[in-house]
Amino acid sequence: MSPTLHDEIREVVKEYPEPRSAIIPALRLAQERHGGWLPDEAFRQVAEALDVTPAYCVSIASFYDMFHTEPVGRHLVEVCTNVSCAVSGAQRVVEAFERELGVHAGETTEDGNVTLRTVECLGGCGWATVVAVDNRHHLRVQAGDVGGIVKELGE
Ligand code: FES
Repeated sequence: MSPTLHDEIREVVKEYPEPRSAIIPALRLAQERHGGWLPDEAFRQVAEALDVTPAYCVSIASFYDMFHTEPVGRHLVEVCTNVSCAVSGAQRVVEAFERELGVHAGETTEDGNVTLRTVECLGGCGWATVVAVDNRHHLRVQAGDVGGIVKELGE
C-alpha cells in the first residue's frame, strides 16, 4: 500500500523543530499529489497534517510563484519579466509565446497542454531573458526562439 499524503507529510515533519516549519515541503508534496496544483482539498490535507489552519496554508502558497492555486497544463512555461529580463526584451518574448500558443499570459491552452505565466526573477539575471519550461531554464531567450521552444512542447 502506498503512503497517504498525510503519512508523507508527517514523515517530512520529523526533520523540523515544529510541524508548521514544514509548510513549504508539505505544500510541494501536496501539489505533486494533486496533479501540479493545490485545490481546497490539498490545503485541508496539509493543514490537518501540520496542525495549522487551511487559511494559513493558502497564505503561504499564494506568496510563492512555485505554488499553483488553479489547474495548470501538462507543461508550464514561465517567462521572467523582472528588471534585467524586462530591459532585455522579456515583453516581446511573452508576446511571442502568446501568439504561438494562442493564449494570454496566465492562461492554459484549450487542449490543456501548456500554461503560460509571467514570473518574478528566476535567478539568472545575467542571462536574460530567462524562460523556465517545466522548471528547466532557457537562457538569453529572444522572441525568435519561441517558435522552437513551443514546437518541443507539441503545440
Ligand atoms: S530578472 Fe530575469 S532572471 Fe533575474
